[in-house]
Amino acid sequence: MAAACEQMTSLLVGQEELPHPYDAWISIAKNLPELIKNGQLRAEVEKLTTFSIDGLQGHKLQRLAHLVLGYITMAYVWGEGDGDVRKVLPSNIAVPYCKVSEKLGLPPILVYADCVLANWKKKDPSGPMTYENMDILFSFPGGDCGKGFFLVSLVVETAAASAIKVIPIIFNAIQREDPDTLQKALLDIASCLHKALEMFHQIHEYVDPNLFFNVLRIYLSGWKGNPLLSEGLLYEGVWDTPKKFAGGSAAQSSIFQCFDILLGIQHTVGGVPSDSAAKFLQEMRTYMPSAHQNFLRSLESGPSVRKFVLSKGDATLQEIYNECVQAMVSLRNYHLQIVAKYIVIPASQPSKRKQTSEEPSEPKSKGTGGTDIMEFLRTVRSTTVNSLLKED
Ligand code: HEM
Repeated sequence: MAAACEQMTSLLVGQEELPHPYDAWISIAKNLPELIKNGQLRAEVEKLTTFSIDGLQGHKLQRLAHLVLGYITMAYVWGEGDGDVRKVLPSNIAVPYCKVSEKLGLPPILVYADCVLANWKKKDPSGPMTYENMDILFSFPGGDCGKGFFLVSLVVETAAASAIKVIPIIFNAIQREDPDTLQKALLDIASCLHKALEMFHQIHEYVDPNLFFNVLRIYLSGWKGNPLLSEGLLYEGVWDTPKKFAGGSAAQSSIFQCFDILLGIQHTVGGVPSDSAAKFLQEMRTYMPSAHQNFLRSLESGPSVRKFVLSKGDATLQEIYNECVQAMVSLRNYHLQIVAKYIVIPASQPSKRKQTSEEPSEPKSKGTGGTDIMEFLRTVRSTTVNSLLKED
């Protein structure tokens, strides 16, 4: 477990360039906003040679390739974001993209592990991982809105992720029946979750709701439950029929699910998803890197913190456990307010974007992951609130 925790907290860093000939992908991905604005993006993509992925050796190169091809694919499909969508991904991109995806156990669409976890660098390499000292590697149209959205997600994630190293201490404390050590470790978890909430506040400073809703969000949209691509996307040269994949969403982050499992906040009944919200969270695991999926599974087979706390009947221990659950409630409450500001309110205002296509418009009440947003998020929050231990 300690080794798995170590692996989870080590973020992907240091890979910004791909060797020749894959640098041709980087050249496109680095200039996406410009190429889209000039109407040249699709032609540039169609000109690419089909590269074998044999020269992409090692996890870091493959993750960078997945990120780069994800950006190119989203840009190719959504184009200028005006409803003129492409339903076929040409084989020169589709074939290498699906091969890299298969190697990594990730779907061939831009995922959170790409645009947030692998899409950053430090400005001063010896400096801290703060917003001010970081930049993103690739951008979509929408100016700095993408940088704000991805980097704020990253700093929320890293603040919460520092609690992962406490997990082996918690499991040991339960095995040794040591409530004092458990109390201290749970306080550490609560403090990291409070810090994560603090980091969340930066979203208001760095992300403009109008640009987020009307521009960036389009490029994160997927082709599952999306009427603009109701059949899915045809990956030419890979599959004979179109495939459906959900768009990029922080619901694909393993960090909230990690603390849900640790604290016994159960979106499942006996391991089976109890409702559509739980099913969606479970499905989102298939959009996580396999190390993250395995980590969540190993947590599920670990000792139950909640059962241990209940069995001790110790009021202070219960209070501290509740502080952790309450921190998850507060994060989800705050997240709901953010979603109202960045999706629900802009969705209720008339769109300023040009709509050239006669296709049905994208579903405004849906998240990029394809959920009916507010209903889904409220259900997840209720399950969290219901996990608070009540006094007898
Ligand atoms: C402008 C900012 C944000 C917006 C508009 C937003 C929107 C959404 C939406 C619509 C969903 C529902 C799933 C979907 O269909 O995509 C969702 C889920 C989720 N989001 Fe966000 N999100 C934002 C920022 C963040 C950040 C910074 C984090 C933390 C790193 C985060 C973590 C989550 C999680 C964990 C879920 C799954 C539900 C849960 O476990 O509570 N979100 N988000």
